Amino acid sequence: MSDHEHHSHPSKKDLAFIHAKKQARQKITMLTGYDYSTACLEDQAGIEIILVGDSVGTNVLGYASEREVTMEDMVHHLKAVRRGVAQAYLLVDLPYQSYETPQQAFVNARTLLDHGADAVKLEGGIEQVETIRKLTSQGISVCGHIGFTPQTLHHPGRKARIQGRSSSQAIALLESAIAVEQAGAQLLVLELIPEPLGKAITECLRIPTIGIGAGRFCDGQVLIIHDLLGLTPFHLRFVKRYQQYRELTLQAIEEYKHDVEDGNFPSGDTAFEMDEDERLKVERWMHQSRERVSRP
Ligand code: KIV
Repeated sequence: MSDHEHHSHPSKKDLAFIHAKKQARQKITMLTGYDYSTACLEDQAGIEIILVGDSVGTNVLGYASEREVTMEDMVHHLKAVRRGVAQAYLLVDLPYQSYETPQQAFVNARTLLDHGADAVKLEGGIEQVETIRKLTSQGISVCGHIGFTPQTLHHPGRKARIQGRSSSQAIALLESAIAVEQAGAQLLVLELIPEPLGKAITECLRIPTIGIGAGRFCDGQVLIIHDLLGLTPFHLRFVKRYQQYRELTLQAIEEYKHDVEDGNFPSGDTAFEMDEDERLKVERWMHQSRERVSRP
Protein backbone atom coordinates (compact mmCIF):
# COMPACT_ATOMS: atom_id res chain seq x y z
CA MET A 1 0.00 0.00 0.00
CA SER A 2 1.40 3.44 -0.89
CA ASP A 3 1.70 6.18 1.72
CA HIS A 4 -0.97 8.18 -0.08
CA GLU A 5 -3.46 5.32 0.00
CA HIS A 6 -2.69 4.66 3.64
CA HIS A 7 -3.50 8.21 4.75
CA SER A 8 -6.39 9.20 2.49
CA HIS A 9 -8.32 6.00 1.68
CA PRO A 10 -7.58 3.24 4.17
CA SER A 11 -8.55 0.07 2.33
CA LYS A 12 -10.84 -2.52 3.84
CA LYS A 13 -8.79 -5.38 5.29
CA ASP A 14 -9.63 -8.86 4.07
CA LEU A 15 -8.28 -12.35 4.65
CA ALA A 16 -5.92 -12.08 1.67
CA PHE A 17 -4.34 -9.01 3.27
CA ILE A 18 -4.05 -10.74 6.65
CA HIS A 19 -2.61 -13.94 5.13
CA ALA A 20 -0.11 -11.88 3.12
CA LYS A 21 1.17 -10.41 6.38
CA LYS A 22 2.00 -13.91 7.63
CA GLN A 23 3.81 -14.65 4.37
CA ALA A 24 5.77 -11.40 4.70
CA ARG A 25 6.50 -12.16 8.38
CA GLN A 26 4.79 -8.94 9.43
CA LYS A 27 2.87 -9.03 12.69
CA ILE A 28 -0.93 -8.89 12.57
CA THR A 29 -2.66 -6.63 15.12
CA MET A 30 -5.99 -7.48 16.71
CA LEU A 31 -7.94 -5.92 19.59
CA THR A 32 -11.31 -6.54 21.11
CA GLY A 33 -13.93 -3.82 20.60
CA TYR A 34 -17.39 -3.68 22.08
CA ASP A 35 -18.73 -0.19 21.34
CA TYR A 36 -18.91 2.43 18.58
CA SER A 37 -16.52 5.08 19.89
CA THR A 38 -13.72 2.65 20.79
CA ALA A 39 -14.14 0.85 17.47
CA CYS A 40 -13.73 4.19 15.65
CA LEU A 41 -10.41 4.76 17.42
CA GLU A 42 -9.12 1.22 16.84
CA ASP A 43 -10.03 1.52 13.19
CA GLN A 44 -8.40 4.94 12.93
CA ALA A 45 -5.23 3.55 14.52
CA GLY A 46 -5.09 0.92 11.76
CA ILE A 47 -5.76 -2.18 13.88
CA GLU A 48 -6.26 -4.91 11.30
CA ILE A 49 -8.74 -7.17 13.08
CA ILE A 50 -11.35 -5.99 15.58
CA LEU A 51 -12.87 -8.79 17.62
CA VAL A 52 -16.29 -8.41 19.17
CA GLY A 53 -15.36 -11.03 21.73
CA ASP A 54 -17.63 -12.73 24.21
CA SER A 55 -15.32 -11.11 26.76
CA VAL A 56 -17.91 -8.32 26.39
CA GLY A 57 -19.76 -10.30 29.08
CA THR A 58 -17.22 -9.89 31.87
CA ASN A 59 -15.73 -6.55 30.71
CA VAL A 60 -18.85 -4.58 29.80
CA LEU A 61 -22.00 -6.37 30.88
CA GLY A 62 -20.99 -7.31 34.42
CA TYR A 63 -21.54 -11.04 33.92
CA ALA A 64 -19.58 -13.49 36.07
CA SER A 65 -18.52 -15.53 33.05
CA GLU A 66 -18.49 -15.64 29.25
CA ARG A 67 -21.11 -18.38 29.51
CA GLU A 68 -23.84 -15.85 30.24
CA VAL A 69 -23.34 -14.06 26.92
CA THR A 70 -26.20 -14.57 24.46
CA MET A 71 -26.58 -14.17 20.70
CA GLU A 72 -28.71 -11.10 21.45
CA ASP A 73 -25.80 -9.53 23.40
CA MET A 74 -23.39 -10.27 20.56
CA VAL A 75 -25.65 -8.80 17.88
CA HIS A 76 -26.24 -5.65 19.98
CA HIS A 77 -22.50 -4.98 20.38
CA LEU A 78 -21.63 -6.10 16.85
CA LYS A 79 -24.05 -3.52 15.42
CA ALA A 80 -22.44 -0.72 17.46
CA VAL A 81 -18.91 -1.74 16.46
CA ARG A 82 -19.88 -2.19 12.80
CA ARG A 83 -20.97 1.46 12.67
CA GLY A 84 -17.49 2.54 13.73
CA VAL A 85 -15.38 0.29 11.51
CA ALA A 86 -14.36 1.29 8.00
CA GLN A 87 -11.12 -0.59 7.35
CA ALA A 88 -10.62 -3.34 9.93
CA TYR A 89 -11.60 -6.98 9.45
CA LEU A 90 -14.53 -7.58 11.81
CA LEU A 91 -14.44 -10.85 13.68
CA VAL A 92 -17.23 -11.87 16.06
CA ASP A 93 -17.47 -14.62 18.67
CA LEU A 94 -20.17 -17.24 18.51
CA PRO A 95 -21.25 -17.24 22.17
CA TYR A 96 -21.51 -20.24 24.50
CA GLN A 97 -24.01 -22.90 23.40
CA SER A 98 -24.75 -21.11 20.13
CA TYR A 99 -22.91 -23.76 18.10
CA GLU A 100 -23.90 -27.06 19.70
CA THR A 101 -24.55 -28.59 16.27
CA PRO A 102 -23.19 -27.68 12.83
CA GLN A 103 -26.66 -26.53 11.76
CA GLN A 104 -27.15 -24.33 14.84
CA ALA A 105 -23.67 -22.87 14.25
CA PHE A 106 -24.62 -22.12 10.65
CA VAL A 107 -27.86 -20.34 11.58
CA ASN A 108 -26.17 -18.23 14.28
CA ALA A 109 -23.10 -17.47 12.17
CA ARG A 110 -25.41 -16.28 9.36
CA THR A 111 -27.13 -13.95 11.84
CA LEU A 112 -23.77 -12.43 12.81
CA LEU A 113 -22.78 -12.04 9.15
CA ASP A 114 -26.14 -10.44 8.37
CA HIS A 115 -25.35 -7.83 11.03
CA GLY A 116 -21.96 -7.00 9.57
CA ALA A 117 -19.43 -9.58 10.78
CA ASP A 118 -16.71 -10.55 8.28
CA ALA A 119 -16.04 -13.85 10.06
CA VAL A 120 -16.96 -15.77 13.20
CA LYS A 121 -14.77 -17.23 15.92
CA LEU A 122 -15.53 -20.39 17.84
CA GLU A 123 -13.70 -22.24 20.57
CA GLY A 124 -12.43 -25.79 20.40
CA GLY A 125 -10.16 -28.07 18.40
CA ILE A 126 -10.76 -31.50 16.90
CA GLU A 127 -14.27 -31.64 18.39
CA GLN A 128 -15.26 -28.64 16.24
CA VAL A 129 -14.03 -30.00 12.91
CA GLU A 130 -17.48 -30.92 11.60
CA THR A 131 -18.89 -27.51 12.55
CA ILE A 132 -15.98 -25.62 10.97
CA ARG A 133 -16.41 -27.69 7.79
CA LYS A 134 -20.10 -26.90 7.67
CA LEU A 135 -19.50 -23.15 8.04
CA THR A 136 -16.61 -22.90 5.60
CA SER A 137 -18.40 -25.06 3.01
CA GLN A 138 -21.21 -22.46 3.14
CA GLY A 139 -18.74 -19.64 2.49
CA ILE A 140 -18.51 -18.46 6.12
CA SER A 141 -14.99 -17.56 7.23
CA VAL A 142 -14.00 -19.05 10.56
CA CYS A 143 -11.37 -18.28 13.18
CA GLY A 144 -10.58 -21.16 15.56
CA HIS A 145 -9.60 -20.67 19.19
CA ILE A 146 -7.59 -23.24 21.16
CA GLY A 147 -5.51 -23.39 24.33
CA PHE A 148 -7.38 -21.71 27.17
CA THR A 149 -10.97 -21.56 25.99
CA PRO A 150 -12.98 -19.39 28.43
CA GLN A 151 -16.42 -20.76 27.43
CA THR A 152 -15.51 -24.22 28.71
CA LEU A 153 -12.55 -23.61 31.06
CA HIS A 154 -13.29 -20.30 32.82
CA HIS A 155 -14.79 -20.67 36.26
CA PRO A 156 -15.75 -17.41 38.00
CA GLY A 157 -13.27 -16.48 40.72
CA ARG A 158 -10.67 -18.97 39.49
CA LYS A 159 -7.52 -18.01 37.61
CA ALA A 160 -7.16 -18.92 33.92
CA ARG A 161 -4.65 -21.77 33.52
CA ILE A 162 -1.88 -22.25 30.98
CA GLN A 163 -2.74 -25.12 28.63
CA GLY A 164 -0.37 -27.56 26.90
CA ARG A 165 2.53 -27.61 29.35
CA SER A 166 3.07 -31.39 29.12
CA SER A 167 4.24 -32.93 25.85
CA SER A 168 1.05 -34.98 25.54
CA GLN A 169 -1.19 -31.91 25.97
CA ALA A 170 1.06 -29.90 23.65
CA ILE A 171 0.86 -32.56 20.91
CA ALA A 172 -2.93 -32.74 21.35
CA LEU A 173 -3.09 -28.96 20.81
CA LEU A 174 -0.82 -29.23 17.75
CA GLU A 175 -3.13 -31.91 16.34
CA SER A 176 -6.14 -29.72 17.09
CA ALA A 177 -4.54 -26.75 15.33
CA ILE A 178 -3.84 -28.84 12.22
CA ALA A 179 -7.37 -30.29 12.26
CA VAL A 180 -8.92 -26.82 12.57
CA GLU A 181 -6.86 -25.60 9.61
CA GLN A 182 -7.71 -28.66 7.54
CA ALA A 183 -11.40 -28.14 8.28
CA GLY A 184 -11.10 -24.76 6.54
CA ALA A 185 -10.52 -22.22 9.33
CA GLN A 186 -8.71 -19.12 8.09
CA LEU A 187 -7.30 -17.84 11.40
CA LEU A 188 -6.48 -19.38 14.75
CA VAL A 189 -6.37 -17.74 18.20
CA LEU A 190 -3.93 -19.34 20.64
CA GLU A 191 -4.69 -18.41 24.25
CA LEU A 192 -2.50 -19.05 27.29
CA ILE A 193 -0.03 -21.64 26.04
CA PRO A 194 3.75 -21.89 26.52
CA GLU A 195 5.82 -19.89 24.05
CA PRO A 196 7.52 -22.93 22.42
CA LEU A 197 4.10 -24.41 21.68
CA GLY A 198 2.89 -21.11 20.19
CA LYS A 199 5.97 -21.13 17.98
CA ALA A 200 5.53 -24.79 16.95
CA ILE A 201 1.84 -24.33 16.03
CA THR A 202 2.65 -21.14 14.09
CA GLU A 203 5.35 -22.96 12.12
CA CYS A 204 3.08 -25.94 11.36
CA LEU A 205 0.22 -23.86 9.98
CA ARG A 206 -0.36 -22.04 6.72
CA ILE A 207 -3.06 -19.86 8.32
CA PRO A 208 -2.08 -17.02 10.69
CA THR A 209 -2.01 -17.62 14.44
CA ILE A 210 -3.02 -14.79 16.76
CA GLY A 211 -1.67 -15.13 20.29
CA ILE A 212 -2.79 -13.92 23.69
CA GLY A 213 -0.49 -15.16 26.42
CA ALA A 214 1.11 -17.42 23.79
CA GLY A 215 4.58 -15.87 23.57
CA ARG A 216 6.44 -13.88 20.96
CA PHE A 217 6.31 -16.09 17.89
CA CYS A 218 2.68 -16.09 16.79
CA ASP A 219 1.82 -14.33 13.53
CA GLY A 220 -0.21 -11.73 15.37
CA GLN A 221 -1.30 -10.54 18.78
CA VAL A 222 -4.66 -9.82 20.41
CA LEU A 223 -5.44 -8.03 23.68
CA ILE A 224 -8.66 -7.15 25.43
CA ILE A 225 -9.05 -3.39 25.04
CA HIS A 226 -9.95 -2.97 28.73
CA ASP A 227 -6.66 -4.65 29.73
CA LEU A 228 -4.61 -2.47 27.36
CA LEU A 229 -6.22 0.70 28.71
CA GLY A 230 -5.76 -0.33 32.34
CA LEU A 231 -9.51 -0.43 33.05
CA THR A 232 -9.39 -3.97 34.44
CA PRO A 233 -9.09 -4.11 38.25
CA PHE A 234 -6.44 -6.89 38.19
CA HIS A 235 -3.16 -7.29 36.36
CA LEU A 236 -2.32 -10.35 34.29
CA ARG A 237 1.26 -11.29 33.41
CA PHE A 238 0.62 -11.59 29.68
CA VAL A 239 -1.00 -8.15 29.45
CA LYS A 240 0.79 -4.89 28.76
CA ARG A 241 -1.08 -1.86 30.13
CA TYR A 242 -0.59 1.20 27.96
CA GLN A 243 -2.66 3.52 30.16
CA GLN A 244 -4.06 3.60 33.70
CA TYR A 245 -7.62 4.60 32.85
CA ARG A 246 -9.17 2.95 35.88
CA GLU A 247 -7.45 5.41 38.21
CA LEU A 248 -7.79 8.33 35.78
CA THR A 249 -11.51 7.71 35.23
CA LEU A 250 -12.25 7.39 38.95
CA GLN A 251 -10.31 10.59 39.61
CA ALA A 252 -12.24 12.47 36.89
CA ILE A 253 -15.61 11.29 38.22
CA GLU A 254 -14.73 12.25 41.79
CA GLU A 255 -13.56 15.71 40.68
CA TYR A 256 -16.81 16.23 38.78
CA LYS A 257 -18.85 15.27 41.86
CA HIS A 258 -16.96 17.74 44.04
CA ASP A 259 -17.24 20.50 41.42
CA VAL A 260 -21.03 20.10 41.19
CA GLU A 261 -21.44 19.93 44.97
CA ASP A 262 -19.21 22.98 45.51
CA GLY A 263 -20.89 25.05 42.77
CA ASN A 264 -17.77 25.15 40.59
CA PHE A 265 -19.51 23.42 37.70
CA PRO A 266 -21.41 24.52 35.69
CA SER A 267 -19.53 27.81 35.73
CA GLY A 268 -20.76 31.10 34.19
CA ASP A 269 -18.70 30.65 31.06
CA THR A 270 -20.45 27.34 30.26
CA ALA A 271 -23.93 28.94 30.54
CA PHE A 272 -26.01 30.32 27.64
CA GLU A 273 -27.22 33.94 27.62
CA MET A 274 -30.69 35.31 26.81
CA ASP A 275 -31.67 38.59 25.23
CA GLU A 276 -32.61 41.03 28.07
CA ASP A 277 -35.98 42.01 26.51
CA GLU A 278 -36.97 38.37 26.21
CA ARG A 279 -35.89 37.67 29.76
CA LEU A 280 -38.00 40.59 31.05
CA LYS A 281 -41.06 39.25 29.19
CA VAL A 282 -40.62 35.89 30.91
CA GLU A 283 -40.24 37.64 34.26
CA ARG A 284 -43.44 39.61 33.67
CA TRP A 285 -45.30 36.46 32.71
CA MET A 286 -44.15 34.76 35.90
CA HIS A 287 -45.22 37.73 38.00
CA GLN A 288 -48.72 37.81 36.39
CA SER A 289 -49.24 34.10 36.73
CA ARG A 290 -48.26 34.27 40.42
CA GLU A 291 -50.90 37.02 40.89
CA ARG A 292 -53.52 34.87 39.15
CA VAL A 293 -52.80 31.94 41.43
CA SER A 294 -52.87 34.01 44.65
CA ARG A 295 -56.15 35.82 43.72
CA PRO A 296 -59.10 34.46 45.83
O1 KIV B 1 -13.52 -12.94 23.78
C1 KIV B 1 -12.35 -12.58 23.67
O2 KIV B 1 -11.98 -11.45 24.01
C2 KIV B 1 -11.39 -13.51 23.10
C3 KIV B 1 -9.96 -13.10 23.10
C4 KIV B 1 -9.35 -13.34 24.42
C5 KIV B 1 -9.20 -13.76 22.02
O3 KIV B 1 -11.77 -14.56 22.70
